[in-house]
Amino acid sequence: PTIYGITPTYPRLAQKADLTRLSQTLMLVKNFHWVVIEDSDEKTKLVANLLKDSNLKYTHLHIKTHKSKHSTMIVDHSRPKKFYFVPRASGVEQRNKALDWLRQHLKTAEDKTGVVYFMDDDNTYSLKVFDEMRKIKKVGVWPVGIVGGMRVEMPVVTNGKVSDFNAFWKPFRPFPIDMAGFAINATMFLDRPDAKFSRKVQSGFQESEILKYFTTKDELEPLAENCTKVYVWHTRTQKPALLNPKKLKLKHPPIPDGHIE
Ligand code: UGA
Ligand code: MN
Repeated sequence: PTIYGITPTYPRLAQKADLTRLSQTLMLVKNFHWVVIEDSDEKTKLVANLLKDSNLKYTHLHIKTHKSKHSTMIVDHSRPKKFYFVPRASGVEQRNKALDWLRQHLKTAEDKTGVVYFMDDDNTYSLKVFDEMRKIKKVGVWPVGIVGGMRVEMPVVTNGKVSDFNAFWKPFRPFPIDMAGFAINATMFLDRPDAKFSRKVQSGFQESEILKYFTTKDELEPLAENCTKVYVWHTRTQKPALLNPKKLKLKHPPIPDGHIE
């Protein structure tokens, strides 16, 4: 089965560095199809060239996040805290666009089997995590390193089943798992045309939002040796601080933006 890696990405100083590292990991993964969705009005040359220069099988899409000026307040009477603000949700429109593409693609594909993995462009992935997800029947889960204030956030496994989650950040989430900690059988997206991410949920609830269409805690398939191994890390690239080239009094005139990346 093909692994469909779904990666939203947006323009920033370290974008090319992050995408270079990720794409070069992915070049080592067999049967991999990379779906990259730019958070922009148009596809950029930077991403187009990076994809073209890789030897990856890929699909290049784009959709700009609808940025509202003010964060929206949502009232939810079912929660102890009855209202919350919706954050700048990253990746929601992009991942949904990729899921639309995936459904169309699978409808006509000869081989409808596969696995969907939502991959941030700045995480660190061991090749082992891809071997694990090939075992998935419905939804597989595994630990994620350096996330939510913990060295490792992980499902707790008892007698081969997920019995609980070891998470410190918002443990009341229906599935307290990071995006990097699960993958879903791709064919199941065909029977669930409504399964998508939502802008209406509070931060940290995107994972639960998509997982609710596919599984319950009891059905989760623990991978990575019963969730005892870390094969993916939620690393985050530090925002680089640049100095103003005009103030540097350099020996050589500064190269204008865009002339060298
Ligand atoms: C965490 C989770 O790991 C993400 O999967 C989740 O989308 C995110 O929180 C969230 O809910 O906001 P974090 O490291 O905080 O991750 O988020 P980023 O890595 O900054 O963004 C996640 C993905 O969305 C990245 O691939 C990034 O390139 C993309 N993104 C981010 C956009 O496409 N547009 C943006 O404006 C920001
Ligand atoms: Mn990230």
